[in-house]
Amino acid sequence: MINRRIVLASRPDGVPDPENFRIEENPVAELEDGQVLLENRVFAIDPAVRGMLDDVESYMPPVAIGGLIPTMVLGRVVKSRNPDFREGDYGRGFIGWEEYSVLNPGSVGFENVRVEDDLPLTAYMGAVGWSGITAYVGLKRYGEMRSGDEVLISAAAGAVGSVAGQVARLSGCRVVGTVSSDEKARIVTDTLGFHGAINYRDCADFDAEIRKHFPDGIDLYFDNVGGVTLDTVLPRMKAFGRIPVCGMIANYNHQTDPYRLRNIWQVLVHRITMRGFLAFEAADMVHEAEDALAGWVRSGELIATENVSTGLESTPQAFIRLMSGETTGKTLVRLDDSVSTLAGWKGA
Ligand SMILES: NC(=O)c1ccc[n+]([C@@H]2O[C@H](COP(=O)([O-])OP(=O)(O)OC[C@H]3O[C@@H](n4cnc5c(N)ncnc54)[C@H](OP(=O)(O)O)[C@@H]3O)[C@@H](O)[C@H]2O)c1
Repeated sequence: MINRRIVLASRPDGVPDPENFRIEENPVAELEDGQVLLENRVFAIDPAVRGMLDDVESYMPPVAIGGLIPTMVLGRVVKSRNPDFREGDYGRGFIGWEEYSVLNPGSVGFENVRVEDDLPLTAYMGAVGWSGITAYVGLKRYGEMRSGDEVLISAAAGAVGSVAGQVARLSGCRVVGTVSSDEKARIVTDTLGFHGAINYRDCADFDAEIRKHFPDGIDLYFDNVGGVTLDTVLPRMKAFGRIPVCGMIANYNHQTDPYRLRNIWQVLVHRITMRGFLAFEAADMVHEAEDALAGWVRSGELIATENVSTGLESTPQAFIRLMSGETTGKTLVRLDDSVSTLAGWKGA
């Protein structure tokens, strides 16, 4: 069997370009004991992967030139040498932009996903997948969210932010999101039920907008972007406020010259707990998060949002759109148009 895969042709400078990627063909590897062969159905496109395309040390090794572009995949099991996976099951793991993947036990995100036919398959890679799990564990464990908290979420119309805001609202918090356009602001308030939104790009005074929405300060800031947003938020935190640091996308396109924070002193002034986290390290909470998120999506209390392109070839462009800030909801690639999506979903 032949596997088509997308590898790194050259290192991007800023927002990636289609020429940074190329398609290769290789034979599908033979399985060893414990391994599972997936026919991939959906890729989750994640901004953190941009950081791995630079030759910079991070929590994941950089991708070598010629290396497979990493991503979370969801695939149908076509062969298994693992007693916990049967043909026809759905396996998920952090592997890469390729048609077939070998899933190794113990690898990041390794899971036999309990796919039910009352949700479209793409939901398991968005609100009910790692974006939702990240929002859930980020708020509950690392942000120590409490009912009544006043919560600010950045990149609020995005994959993680859109779920984080709704989970906070469902947990009894007042939630405001930051976004880059009026259209995203409308989605966040009118569709997702946030209590407010700030268009950071088109407001005269970002700090004044934050003060207006939080006259008494912020209890919990769920940080997806870092940069100038974090710098502006730090002085507006309440005493003993909490900042779970989920991501710093504002730096990803130029990691060799990151934004330099001016207000980090405010961590001491307000005795802020600022804590970075990797969602997959909260392995003991994954099933709790999946059950809660699926329940809310089924009941209609949580609106899942996504933008989906089709076919392996569409993957670089989907990633480029994500890294240009053009997307709303979870950015996904389905490998062909037989994969069910939220669009037009009327149940099984
Ligand atoms: N810690 C973890 O375990 C974990 C897991 C998953 C994701 N993450 C992180 O969570 C954050 C959100 O990820 P996501 O998958 O939900 O992405 P996303 O929010 O769907 O998309 C990224 C959004 O970030 C905003 N953005 C801000 N500055 C940007 C810039 N310089 N370039 C491009 N976009 C920019 C844009 O929203 P606006 O147009 O509104 O500015 C954009 O739409 C990322 O930092 C990611 O690395 C962390």
